[in-house]
Amino acid sequence: MTPVLIDGKEVAASVRARLSGEIEELKKQGKTPGLAVVLVGEDPASQVYVASKVKACAELGLYSQKWALPADTTQQELVELIHKLNADDRIHGILVQSPPPPHIDEEAVILNIDPRKDVDGFHPANVAKLVLEDESGFVPCTPMGCMELLKAYGIETAGKHAVVIGRSMIVGKPMANLLVAKNANATVTIAHSRTQNLPELCRSADIIVAAVGRPEMVTADYVKEGAVVLDVGINRIADASRPRGYRIVGDVNFEAVKEKCSYITPVPGGVGPMTISMLMANTVKACRQQLV
Ligand code: GUN
Repeated sequence: MTPVLIDGKEVAASVRARLSGEIEELKKQGKTPGLAVVLVGEDPASQVYVASKVKACAELGLYSQKWALPADTTQQELVELIHKLNADDRIHGILVQSPPPPHIDEEAVILNIDPRKDVDGFHPANVAKLVLEDESGFVPCTPMGCMELLKAYGIETAGKHAVVIGRSMIVGKPMANLLVAKNANATVTIAHSRTQNLPELCRSADIIVAAVGRPEMVTADYVKEGAVVLDVGINRIADASRPRGYRIVGDVNFEAVKEKCSYITPVPGGVGPMTISMLMANTVKACRQQLV
């Protein structure tokens, strides 16, 4: 079977085109959506992600602030910054890049973000809204991007069996909630490191969402003929033949799996580009909600 390659770059660009109209409208009303991105420490991958988020804001004409704090920033200093950003009228969305250094209690930090500015959808108030299917809340950007890809390619979810591999609060759990919601109607299994017979379980899936952070773990053995495979993984693996000394691979062994599935996201160029477009969408939504 020759699969359809899901083009995340193209879908992400069409989301941004739609957003730019909305941003123009907001600007006519004297409001420019604003995002604050906070990075603690010098993790190289996080530095790249944060730079991409700030660049996307500039390209769309959004106001942004980048806060790059030293690795020894205390919990209290970080929380004080969050409170300052909560009170700043130019800022409609606040994002603290994950993971922070180990001495920072991430959950406690998130509790300090005003839920109306929580464009990551990590605050318990927004987690509850997702579970309650209350669309006024914010949904984490990566799973929201996955749903947007399914929609863009007309992939049916109703009545389908979706297996989500991974139970993180950033991807796995919100992804499962989105798929089981009444506007998607999938039957969902969440798999994790203690799941037994994972390949066999995955072979019963019409849709597989791989979000475990283990390079190329999903092999052909996991995939039923004709399944849809979304690969959320972004893993750096050593590769001396590359100028940087590494290359990026997903959680799916693309070459082995592509022969069996109907649709598949490549890495890079699949789910990745969607995450930032969804962040922009959440920032615009936050701005609109804060107008009233
Ligand atoms: N680290 C990896 N993905 C994300 C994300 O979507 N939001 C934040 N804040 N940190 C991340």
